Amino acid sequence: MYYRANDIKHNDFIGKTIWLRGWVYRIRKQKDKNFVLIRDDRGGVIQCVFPSNIGSDLTIESSLEVKGTVLKDERAKEGGYEVRSEEIKVFNIAPPDFPIGEFQSTELLLDNRHLAIRSRKMVAMSKIRATVLQAARQWFIDNDWIEVNVPTIVKSAVEGGSTLFSLKYYDDDAYLSQSAQLYLEALVFSLGPVWTLAPSFRAEKSRTVRHLAEFLHLEAESPWIEMDDLLRNQEKLLCGIVQKIILDRSEDLKYLNADLSALNRIHEPFDRLKYDKAIEILQSMEIKVQEGETTRPVVWGDDLNIDSERAITREKKRPIFIVGYPLEVKPFYVKEDPLNHGVALSTDLLLPDGFGEVSSGGIREDNIENIRTRLKEQGLDLNSYSWYLDLRKYGSVPHGGFGIGIERLIRWIINSNDIKECVLFPRTMSRVMP
Ligand code: 4AD
Repeated sequence: MYYRANDIKHNDFIGKTIWLRGWVYRIRKQKDKNFVLIRDDRGGVIQCVFPSNIGSDLTIESSLEVKGTVLKDERAKEGGYEVRSEEIKVFNIAPPDFPIGEFQSTELLLDNRHLAIRSRKMVAMSKIRATVLQAARQWFIDNDWIEVNVPTIVKSAVEGGSTLFSLKYYDDDAYLSQSAQLYLEALVFSLGPVWTLAPSFRAEKSRTVRHLAEFLHLEAESPWIEMDDLLRNQEKLLCGIVQKIILDRSEDLKYLNADLSALNRIHEPFDRLKYDKAIEILQSMEIKVQEGETTRPVVWGDDLNIDSERAITREKKRPIFIVGYPLEVKPFYVKEDPLNHGVALSTDLLLPDGFGEVSSGGIREDNIENIRTRLKEQGLDLNSYSWYLDLRKYGSVPHGGFGIGIERLIRWIINSNDIKECVLFPRTMSRVMP
């Protein structure tokens, strides 16, 4: 049996002979001994001590198996335990030019992401990410939503034409999906509440710390749902995820210097703030928006950009829903509030401490003529939406849903300043490799 580093850092193991597998993390060669920190395949690290005739040809990231005796030694790096060994099996001696050292530029780390993912930071992020997905799936199972999978090669825009990636599809043209929403809407007729986890693609034209060209999108859709339940579902889901992370991943959170007290503050219900009120607040803060070459004060009708979202959430300690956006800034599928002309039945969920939007959702327009008009207004080709329009002909029911950006959520959980640190192989405007 092979152990991992953290398994054997216990008094029960003192004096026991064990086998370890891993990679060389650091080496210190002395006259009579070689001190080698070994990294295992879950980010654990333990000091191994060899006589000088063993392991002297090892280099950083060489891979090996070690047989040795566990000892307690307060001086040992990484937790006061070490493995004294006189027997190793080497799988690979890495050339001495491993490109990643202790202090490297962000660009070099991104260029070498296939190797940089071995870092303990990336391992901790990946474990947290896996637990976020596990907690989300569990929440949907517990609440009787059905998981579905839908295509990512599509014919129609969901979130407007400007961020579509197009591709050749045999003799036709197609796009990479911006959102699974339209397919989820088709599925509520036969499966009731449904959800999916799938990549979404956006040809974002800007480099920011919150946009990726490919991100993991958790989307949910339910028939007969009203706004209040839509918000409550998101609250419960998010709180469920955060609680699971606090419970299962506290070590990884600490390693990443995440703000545990910020996570502990998250509980239901989240505040709701009307868009009208948000605009008043932004005006009182004298927040400006860019218009061409100049800036001007925020006015009713503006979408909330990142500066506005930051301003609204900077002092907040818990997530906040913005409700009642102007219909005009929202996509064609959003329903108009029947009691409030020009106002959308849509909501964005903003994360506190200046993080901003993590989720967007709302009630879907069910009047076929309204959808047709808005598709035309938004310059979209009606023919590509014929199947979607059928959904409003055959047994249409009130329905709604939401979509959460998983990397945005992780960025907030681990308190990272860049979304690229929340995904293993980021895709951005300037990066499609490795
Ligand atoms: O606000 P968005 O565009 O809404 C939709 O796609 C809806 N169809 C969702 C739905 O109702 N089913 O995207 C939803 C979320 C955003 O709040 C954000 O967290 C994330 O997806 N997101 C991105 N994450 C990373 N990079 C990007 N370029 C993102 N664009 C959106």
